[in-house]
Amino acid sequence: MRNNRLQLIVLSYVFQRVHTIIPRMLLIPLLITPFLRGKSHAPHVTQEKIGQQYYLHACGSCHGSGKLGGNMATVLEWKGLLANHAKELIGLHEDENGTAGIIAYLKSDCFTREHDHLLKFLQEFANDSESIPTCY
Ligand code: HEC
Repeated sequence: MRNNRLQLIVLSYVFQRVHTIIPRMLLIPLLITPFLRGKSHAPHVTQEKIGQQYYLHACGSCHGSGKLGGNMATVLEWKGLLANHAKELIGLHEDENGTAGIIAYLKSDCFTREHDHLLKFLQEFANDSESIPTCY
């Protein structure tokens, strides 16, 4: 962001010095790119960094990035899956191989503490989420 502002200051200065119309027009795209760049990048970054850490630690090894994992359910479904000490989510893992660890985590106090952040993160990537971040 600091770089963008600096670029903007330099460019507006140059813009003021240039008095003929054609070079001015050439400068316009350069002037607006910092804004366009800021806009297109902002929604890609998750707002829920803490939940992301919890997700990557607890679920990422089997379900991949937040984009893949979050996509398994809707915003509302995630809420239900994690509710009541993740009763439903535990059920989904019970008959699967190698899931003893994740079941133990979901039943632990650790999960209870991490619930809110984890839920926020998963909902951010839910398959009906309005602003799905794409880089994680
Ligand atoms: C050890 C591997 C493993 C870990 C860790 C793990 N899962 Fe799973 N998960 C599975 C398997 C295997 C299934 C059942 C097969 C499937 O549907 O992909 C499953 C199924 C699911 C489903 C149901 C998918 C569907 O299509 O119905 C959800 C939702 C889910 N997991 C969420 C999570 C979340 C959230 C975490 C972290 C808190 C997590 N899982 C951690 C292995 C894992």
